[in-house]
Amino acid sequence: MTEVLDDPYHAAGAAAERLRALTGNHDVALVMGSGWVPAADVLGEATHEFPVTELPGFPPPVVAGHAGRIRSVRVGDTRALVFLGRNHLYEGKGVAPVVHGVRTAVAAGCKVVVLTNAAGGLRETYRLGQPVLISDHINLTSDTPLVGANFVDLTDLYSPRLRALCREVDPTLEEGVYVGLRGPQYETPAEIRMLRVLGGDLVGMSTVLEAIAAREAGAEVLGISLVTNLAAGLTGEPLNHEEVLAAGRAAAERMGRLLRDVLARL
Ligand code: HPA
Repeated sequence: MTEVLDDPYHAAGAAAERLRALTGNHDVALVMGSGWVPAADVLGEATHEFPVTELPGFPPPVVAGHAGRIRSVRVGDTRALVFLGRNHLYEGKGVAPVVHGVRTAVAAGCKVVVLTNAAGGLRETYRLGQPVLISDHINLTSDTPLVGANFVDLTDLYSPRLRALCREVDPTLEEGVYVGLRGPQYETPAEIRMLRVLGGDLVGMSTVLEAIAAREAGAEVLGISLVTNLAAGLTGEPLNHEEVLAAGRAAAERMGRLLRDVLARL
C-alpha cells in the first residue's frame, strides 16, 4: 500500500510481475462494478481466482458488495483478467489505489481495458437494468491519476472501435456521457439538474480515473454503465444502495452475455 503511494508505476510493475507468475498472460482486463460481479460468471470457467490482496499494492475493500477478487477466464481465444470489485475514491485512500488494478493489468500486457459500473440515469427515457455504452466522460472528482506535465490526450478516450463492436453484438445499445463524481453521498436533485445541463447522461462514482490511467498506459478503453436507478429527483423516490446492487444482479445474465460476445470478437 505504501509502495503504491510512493511510486504507483513501480508498484504496478511489481504487481504485474506477481500476476504473471500466478496466472500467465492476459489480453483484456475487465473491471466489474457494483452489481456486475454476477455477470462475470457468464463469461466462462475461471482458470484462477484469488483475492486482489495476493498482489502487492491492493488495500482490502471496505464496502460490502465490493469484494476484491481477481479471476482469470478464457473466452474463445481471449485471455481475460477480471477484477471482481474495485477501489473507489470515496474510500479516502487517494487516487493511486483506485487505478492500481488498471495499471497492473496494462503492465501485465492487457491491451484492452473494459470498465463497467452502476450508474444513475440522467435521462428519463432510460430503463432500469439498461446497459449504456460510455461515449465520453466528465470528470468531476476534482482529481486525476496523472502527476506532472503529463498532457495525455483524451479525445476518443472511449474507443469508437470497441463501441462499434458492442453495437454489432447488440444493435439496441445506446450511448451516453458518464459524469464521475467523488461521492459517497448520492447527488441532490439540484446537482442532477446541473449535470443534465452540463451534458451528462449517466452519473456515478467510478470509472473516470481508471479510464484516464488506462489511456495513459496505452490501452484501448471500453466503458459500459448499467442504469440501476434514475438519478435523484427524477422519480420522487429516495435512492438506496441495496436497490442499486439488486438492479445489477437482475441484469447480470444479459450483461455477461454482452461482455462474452464482445470478448469473443476482439
Ligand atoms: N448516483 C451516483 N452513483 C450511482 C448512482 C447515482 O444515482 N447509481 C449508481 N451509482
